[in-house]
Amino acid sequence: MTLPIGSLSNKRVLLGITGGIAAYKSADLLRRLQTAGAEVRVVMTQAATEFITPLTFQALSGHPVHLDLLDTAAEAAMGHIELARWADVILIAPATADFIARLVHGEAGDLLSTLCLARKGPLAIAPAMNQAMWSNAATQHNITALQERDITIFDPAAGYQACGDVGEGRMEEPEQLVALTSALFGSTLLAGQKVVITAGPTQEALDPVRYLSNHSSGKMGYALAEAAAEAGAETVLISGPVALAPPSRVRTIAVTSAQEMLDASLQEVSDATLFIAAAAVADYRPTTVANQKIKKSAGAVSLTLEKTTDIVATVAGLENRPFTVGFAAETENLVVHARDKLERKQLDLVIANDVSDTRIGFGSDNNRVVLVTSDGEQELPEMRKTQLARELILYICTRFALN
Ligand code: C5P
Repeated sequence: MTLPIGSLSNKRVLLGITGGIAAYKSADLLRRLQTAGAEVRVVMTQAATEFITPLTFQALSGHPVHLDLLDTAAEAAMGHIELARWADVILIAPATADFIARLVHGEAGDLLSTLCLARKGPLAIAPAMNQAMWSNAATQHNITALQERDITIFDPAAGYQACGDVGEGRMEEPEQLVALTSALFGSTLLAGQKVVITAGPTQEALDPVRYLSNHSSGKMGYALAEAAAEAGAETVLISGPVALAPPSRVRTIAVTSAQEMLDASLQEVSDATLFIAAAAVADYRPTTVANQKIKKSAGAVSLTLEKTTDIVATVAGLENRPFTVGFAAETENLVVHARDKLERKQLDLVIANDVSDTRIGFGSDNNRVVLVTSDGEQELPEMRKTQLARELILYICTRFALN
């Protein structure tokens, strides 16, 4: 996944490096940030300098590396508050478990954590640590606390670790970190484009108090709407009933039934570039809705159900259709079923996930998907839905040149 060169042009990136073995990758990251157009200044913690020398970063960035909070020479050149204000974004890569914990507590005992407190722009961290440390409840609790404070987490990838373990905890690759950092700036990837997304379940009334529905949480669709807005799109989220707050910068239309979701979708897609159907639309609805509550005394009740209209297939069948993306939640033969859906519904892309794996999918914060297009498949590793959403938007924009 690559972004066009210049996607970070005119952006000032303060690259924070903390003490983990992944710090050796930060030199490559710095180079790639510069290639993407960013001006980069580097701050290292004391521990980081045990892994890689400041001289490396000084040579690459063309500027002295900032190391100490109480360095009079450095303060005279550019004081720490000034440096925090200078940055359009602070990117900490790698971020160790210890640094993350200090960030949670708002500590200011060293230069980098002080800058994090004094910053005015966004802060993103790329955690890197042993897989057991990453999955430890304390770390996960800290990560959630940071997310609640709008600090962006570029989740670690899974794979071989320097310590010999295999698992989640490796710092995300520099190329990916550059793409994700650039997406933070309400990038111009989808500027001027309209994106319509359906999300959540639908409810199909049986009578005034009962309905048929499903377990969809809406998390994937909401994350996609956030990511589309972040990428600069005019974003419309057509949402069934969920327990999530409407995302900011997004126009959210609340609907209840499949028919309402269809009507709203058709209303909105005529001038859209991209339509993503992330909703778990009810496939059937009761043929008739009782006017009064059905009484228990009636004994056994039979329901006659009729099919709802397939929203994504209807949109894909429009003459002036947007780029149309569907989801496929499957329990077996994932790619075969997804490809069948792609062809049958005439979609441009199907995002397939295995819902038989209880750790991912419905209700979960994580997901692992396979992207199925007419010319092949691409697997993405398990990651948080928020992160996956950003990567999906990036994939769709770059691979299909939507802008
Ligand atoms: O056919 P199936 O329901 O498995 O397909 C899932 C995909 O189709 C999802 O993208 C879902 O949002 C979309 N869909 C729809 N309208 C329906 C049923 C499914 O848009 N009535």
